[in-house]
This record gives sequence, C-alpha cells and structure tokens, in this order.
Amino acid sequence: MRVAIIGTGYVGLTTGVCLASIGHRVACLDTDQTKIAALKNGKIPIFEPYLEDLLADSQHNLEFTSSYAEAIPGAEVVFIAVGTPPTPSGAPNLEFLSQAARSIGEHLDNDFTVVVNKSTVPIGSGNWVESLLRDACEQRSDRRGPEFAVASNPEFLREGSALHDSLYPDRIVIGADEPRALEVLYTLYRPILDQTFPAPTYLPRPETVSAIPLVSTDLASAELIKYAANAFLALKISFINEIGLLAERVGADISEVGRGIGLDSRIGPRFLNAGIGWGGSCFGKDTAALIATAGEYGLHLPIVEAARKINCRQRDRVVEKLLHELKILKGRSIGLLGLAFKPNTDDLREAPAIEIAQKLIDRGVRVKAHDPIAAERFCREHGKIGVQLCRTPYEVADACDALVLVTEWNEYRDLEWECMAKRMRNPLVLDGRHALDREKLQRAGLRYLSLC
Ligand code: UDX
Repeated sequence: MRVAIIGTGYVGLTTGVCLASIGHRVACLDTDQTKIAALKNGKIPIFEPYLEDLLADSQHNLEFTSSYAEAIPGAEVVFIAVGTPPTPSGAPNLEFLSQAARSIGEHLDNDFTVVVNKSTVPIGSGNWVESLLRDACEQRSDRRGPEFAVASNPEFLREGSALHDSLYPDRIVIGADEPRALEVLYTLYRPILDQTFPAPTYLPRPETVSAIPLVSTDLASAELIKYAANAFLALKISFINEIGLLAERVGADISEVGRGIGLDSRIGPRFLNAGIGWGGSCFGKDTAALIATAGEYGLHLPIVEAARKINCRQRDRVVEKLLHELKILKGRSIGLLGLAFKPNTDDLREAPAIEIAQKLIDRGVRVKAHDPIAAERFCREHGKIGVQLCRTPYEVADACDALVLVTEWNEYRDLEWECMAKRMRNPLVLDGRHALDREKLQRAGLRYLSLC
C-alpha cells in the first residue's frame, strides 16, 4: 500500500521504516529540510538501535520529502506523527497537529484515504482532526471533495527498543468510527498481525511471538487506551517507589519485594524497578494530558496525580540522601553516571539527571557527569546548566565526594570499582537504579547506598 508519514521524529521515522520494511511504499515528510536531507543520505537524527540498518534495508520502499504535494496524493493511509508537546497547563500543544491536518486536507487526492493519528493526542482529537480536514477540503477548488476517514492508531514503542516494539508488538490498537477505515488498517498491518514478514537478521522474531492481537475499536476508546496504558505504567513505577520508602524504614529490600510481587501473574514483573523514577517524553506528558482532559469534564484523577507527585519526589530524595550522608553539599564535587532518561537512547527529555544536576548546582555543588551516548546532546541542549562533562566514568570519579548512578547503562555495572574508589575523595556511591552489585562495591572499598 502507499503510505505517507507526517513527522520524522521517534514515532514517525520508526513507523515509516517498519512499514517500508514489510513491503509498503512509504513517503516520510518533515518540514525540517535539514533532517530530510540527512535521511535521504541514510543518516538518522536519533539514537535508536538498528534503525539506520533497517532504513538502509528498506530504502527501496522509502522516500523523504518536505512537500505535501509529493507525499499525500495517492496515499491510501496518511499517519500524523508530529509532536504534541505539553503546555504549562498540561494540555498538549496541538499547533503542529492542526497544521499537518490542514496541509493534508489541501493535498488529499485518492479514492479513499485513512488519516491516522499516531501522535498521542487528547481524547476527542480524532473528531477535531476530521473537522480540520473537512474545512481544508471544502476550501479546495475541486469541490468534489476526496473521501477520507480519521482513525487512531496509538504507538506503544519504548525508546531503545522501538523497532522490536513495532515489529513484534504486544498488540495493535486501531480506532475508527468508520468500518472501512478499520479494514484498510487491518490490510496495512496484516504482515505484522500474522507475523509473515521476513524478520531482519539483527531483529530476529522472538520464539514466543506468533499472531499479534488486534484491538479494533472506536476512536475515543483507542485514544484513551494510549493514555491509560502510559498512566498505568507510570503508576506501577511510582507504586514500587512508594513501597520503597517504607521498605527502607523497615529494613526490607525493595528489589526483593518487587520480585516477590511481580511473580504474581496478575501483577507481572516488569516496571517494578524502584529508584529515581520515570523520565522521557511520554509518561510526564501523557499523565499531565490525562489530568487536563479529565479537568475539562470536571473530574479529578487522584491516582494519576499521586503517581506524578511520587515521581517528582524521587528526584528530591537523591539530594536529601546526599545531604544526609555528606552533611554539607556546598563546595562538594558530585558525579552523575548517566544523563539519558534511560539506557540505549540519547533522549534527554524529562531526564531525571537534568533536574538532579540543577538541584545540586543550586546548592553550590560542583557537578561532573558522563553518559556513553547522550553527553554530546546534553552539551548541545543543556550546556548552560554548568555540568562538567567527562570522557570516562573514571574521570567523573576523580576527587568526587559521591557518585550517583542515574541511568543504568550496562557499562557502569562492569567498571573497575577499586580504581573508582581510589580516585574518589570520598568513596560513596548512591545507586539510583538498584543496578549495581552492592557486595562488589563494598569489597572495592566503597560505601554503597540505594535510593530506597
Ligand atoms: C514509554 C512506554 O513504555 C511506551 O509504551 C510509550 O509508547 C512511550 O513511553 P519510554 O518512555 O520510551 O516508553 O521508556 P520506558 O522504557 O517505558 O521507561 C520510561 C521511564 O520509566 C524511564 O525513565 C525508565 O527509567 C523508567 N522506569 C522504567 C523505571 O523507573 N522503572 C521501571 O521498572 C521501568
């Protein structure tokens, strides 16, 4: 099928490359011509494992453009995957979405086109996008007006494993109030639903994956599924972090508690890793948007609000712990291991490291940091904070009064901790992710603390 993708960010680029890899002809559009020029040369603007490989293997089915006149005519499916960044009120900024909808409406030219909201959009946006498309079509000279329908197809991909989550998803959710739209999307996703596409060698099909469940529902339900899923995942993390507070008081091991409850098939073991908590562009934005949408209906969501409050508190607890251990923070040197909001990405959006660094600097601390991938982006985007970036974790340790593990990159687990201890002024490590081996660090001469 012929597909157009509007927006080549994490979601749009991943979706476009995956659909091209399973045989569809995909035109990816972005108004950022620099990004498009790089993509035409096979260079991707984000760090996502294997995305550049899959792009190279699928380039015969891919084209990149900044022109709606090139991308839209003839497309049977148009995905809107533009940013919907949060506004101060928590409601998402829909400026990019409305611009994309209008431009699509002006260029639609096919018997029937399904316009799909792939970006996370407020519940009810499907109808709003449809009205924008209708308006744009009505202003065209050819009054016949193309046939189209709007659908929702929320993404559930995690950065760092975006391709795996796209090719081998737990489920595909499509929402539309028009049956024809659901049929078109079913055809589009058939190779993934039936897992009949040839698996890339570098992204082998997991043995446990066979047919993929399809949730085919109405627009509002599909839009709410996305928000409810992210809110629940965020809540699960905040829940284990709240229990971690009590575990610390009673001398329990929160990792053991997480393991013990996670073995219950009704709870499940994932997203129960206690520590600094969540960052990233989704959980914070989507929980805020959900609360804002509820507010429009005069509703409060105390559970979702509590998840956000607990998550914010975890960052403060890093500073409180360091203050308790070091008594005085002013003039101290503290090193952060990891800057990205999670491993295997260079994404710094809502990264806990940024807020923690700022809080420490505000208290007169000299902050040093290392990140194997995100350091360059940190320098570009947050160079003004005043963090001293180091080339290696050992450089971070030099003359430091404490180290904080903020992002659990694998390389930090295998450091020469004896060497780290010798280089530090005060051999103290605060493990913000329960990712380090307590006994190993203690044998290396370090005082080991966990966040909860
Ligand atoms: C998330 C959702 O998982 C995905 O379905 C959605 O489409 C986009 O948002 P992502 O933000 O890429 O994906 O990362 P994820 O792996 O979910 O982690 C989010 C945050 O939670 C990270 O900061 C991570 O460090 C933190 N986390 C995750 C925990 O603190 N504990 C855990 O057990 C798991």
